[in-house]
Amino acid sequence: MNETFPFQAEPLPYAYNALEPELSKEILEFHHDKHYKTYVDNLNGILSDFPKYQDWTLENLLIHLEDLPTDIQTGIRNNGGGVYNHQLYFRCMQGNGFSMPEGDFANIIHRDFESFDNFSRIFTNAATKVFGSGYAWLVCENGKLSVVTTGNQDTPITNSQKPILCIDVWEHAYYLQYQNRRADYITNWFQLINWDYVNTLYLQASQS
Ligand SMILES: [Fe+2]
Repeated sequence: MNETFPFQAEPLPYAYNALEPELSKEILEFHHDKHYKTYVDNLNGILSDFPKYQDWTLENLLIHLEDLPTDIQTGIRNNGGGVYNHQLYFRCMQGNGFSMPEGDFANIIHRDFESFDNFSRIFTNAATKVFGSGYAWLVCENGKLSVVTTGNQDTPITNSQKPILCIDVWEHAYYLQYQNRRADYITNWFQLINWDYVNTLYLQASQS
């Protein structure tokens, strides 16, 4: 996430059909090729008129939103957030079957949530209750894990709160396959979590 303007849409780290049956090829094609890429294009469009901010990383743009000119803050918040959130969402999935946190990271989950099942309940409850469009997140703050939610394309990214996992609960993430059944989408998404990648992000977040 350290790239700067002009931002490039990163390819999916797996084939479009790799997450079936939990997430269909059709959903990923629309989600990645249309929704995500539109956020990338819009972000570049906004920054093209503001060269002063073209060497800012995506993370810096989002962490320091209030330092940007007021007339681009909302655009950067929505479209920069849209790029950041989707990149994390896509990276945190894999199609190799259900997995669990392992080793030291499993112990951290137990330390902060008592058990993996309890973490799953808390995260599922949070994702289910996001009103309208948004995300549920697992974040690391001073080495400690917690679950938070955001609306629209807002992010929890700050100097102290580092996202290491997210689920997109905008309807575009599941409606083509699940229609209004967000709870079923969330249940099946748990089969797709790439815990190796989440663990990598945790190690980075807890050491920085
Ligand atoms: Fe999305």
